[in-house]
Amino acid sequence: LARGVTEPDLVGRHVVVTAGGTREPLDPVRFLGNRSSGKQGYALARTAAARGARVTLIEGNTGLPDPAGVDVVRIGTAVQLREAVLKAAPDADVVVMAAAVADFRPETYATGKIKKRDGQEPEPIVLVRNPDILAEISADRSRPGQMIVGFAAETDDVLANGRAKLARKGCDLLVVNEVGERKTFGSEENEAVVLGADGSETPVPYGPKEALAETVWDLVVSRLG
Ligand code: CTP
Ligand code: CA
Repeated sequence: LARGVTEPDLVGRHVVVTAGGTREPLDPVRFLGNRSSGKQGYALARTAAARGARVTLIEGNTGLPDPAGVDVVRIGTAVQLREAVLKAAPDADVVVMAAAVADFRPETYATGKIKKRDGQEPEPIVLVRNPDILAEISADRSRPGQMIVGFAAETDDVLANGRAKLARKGCDLLVVNEVGERKTFGSEENEAVVLGADGSETPVPYGPKEALAETVWDLVVSRLG
């Protein structure tokens, strides 16, 4: 197939992609967040639509414009993301969790703005665990043949940590990024290795996020029944 020509190999498929990052509010004006730009998730949504899929994009805090022909669901927190994913997943052939989900959220939400007081030390912020959405949908498997893809950014022992995470989460594919100087959040490019629960290992060279997205869909298509 010639470069630039898209094969409609996702026609008739419904794919759910999560993108961006969650924000966990402390008070009406503050939150705990992360630096996920959402660009990789948006690239996955665009390329899936170009390959003919019906796409539901669940996005958190990206500020990016809606891709054409894609249903966009907006969420703020990890708990809201979980609700949106659990609602969309039963009808999905593929779920790709590209969003950066906060592992913890503040235990309490202050309905009024937290104020500093002269001569007083700040109150510590107590955190509680958020639900692990990827592990939950991977354990569920109520839809036969559904493919579930996770993402992970690792700084050390990338492959060993990636393999362990893939097994722990129970998903079918895990896209592992090595986080380094030029592979920063918000960049247009990415380098990764895609690990399969079947033992496969697919390196994706440094390049546009679209190219990584196409490789993910290639691997998904080859595994869908
Ligand atoms: N994820 C999720 N729910 C969470 C945390 C993570 O669904 N509460 C998903 C992410 O969307 C990603 C994958 O799990 O697809 C891996 O995220 P990562 O943060 O690397 O995994 P953790 O299990 O949180 O491990 P770590 O302690 O290294 O952060
Ligand atoms: Ca995490």
